[in-house]
Amino acid sequence: MRSVERVGVIGSGLMGTGIAEACARAGLDVRVVTTTTGSTRTARQRLTDLVDRQVRKGQLTEDQRERVVDSVTYTCDLDGMADRDLVVEAIVERESAKVELFAKLDKSVTRDDAILATNTSSIPIVRLACATERPGRVVGVHFFNPVSAMPLVELVGSLLTDADVLDQTERFVTDTLGKQAIRCRDRAGFVVNALLIPYLLSAIRMLESGYATAQEIDRAMTLGCAHPMGPLSLADLIGLDTTAAIASALYDEFKEPLYSPPPLLLRMVEARLLGRKSGMGFHDYRRAGVPMPA
Ligand code: NAI
Repeated sequence: MRSVERVGVIGSGLMGTGIAEACARAGLDVRVVTTTTGSTRTARQRLTDLVDRQVRKGQLTEDQRERVVDSVTYTCDLDGMADRDLVVEAIVERESAKVELFAKLDKSVTRDDAILATNTSSIPIVRLACATERPGRVVGVHFFNPVSAMPLVELVGSLLTDADVLDQTERFVTDTLGKQAIRCRDRAGFVVNALLIPYLLSAIRMLESGYATAQEIDRAMTLGCAHPMGPLSLADLIGLDTTAAIASALYDEFKEPLYSPPPLLLRMVEARLLGRKSGMGFHDYRRAGVPMPA
């Protein structure tokens, strides 16, 4: 069975950049697909900024930095995926966009024996698999943010995923990338988000109903439960659009009120207050640490 040496990453936001960096750091040849020509420059800059931060923190040497930067190429053309052993999709958490992408990847772009992986947080893998004519080769590989710091990857096979594809993907994740994998069933949210999202939504409901300020809620959980970060800071880190999309997918699947996104979250997304990535969410990242009014 062919080992994974050439990886394609589609999407160059928070997760696509992190996944590309992790693959390049593992010595793989990485190609990133972005949506437009202009965005290839932004994507390159994002990855450079990420590795520069790692050098400043002493997590990467200058030599390693050069190797990582040189191992990643960028294109806005999906045909750039033609010679890839494994392609990981990390575009926006919208089912229609992902289904369309998987259909394209399947029809004309990728090799027949390529593994088609998705980093979706909440969309059932089988829906993406069924957009292709090779559902056996479609698999969920759910990384965590920031990818370089978080050891876990959730590996999700759908009812149609071939057992050897799942095994090969697990070897890629553990032996090549040095991550730890858990396998889970194809249910919206898998394990981590099915547990985490209700907690984050409860914190947002608390803020919404005036229990405490954003800063107090976050301090309560960092100081009282020794969490490294409070729930509202964590939602800001994930991205409030992504948090709302995951909550909606969980609610669609289980119809449990605890998964239903609260109005405050929806209004913030509509206002493009998306958390760290937009500079403002429950906290203000333009002037670090200043909480938003409820
Ligand atoms: P992001 O908003 O930072 O990046 C999304 C990227 O997708 C952007 O580069 C955007 O230009 C691109 N994009 C948007 N629509 C597109 C389309 N129709 N076709 C191609 N590209 C398109 O989002 P993030 O956080 O990187 O999330 C990406 C995926 O990773 C989502 O499926 C999300 O659920 C998942 N994920 C997110 C985590 C997080 O903590 N943010 C953690 C684990 C998984």
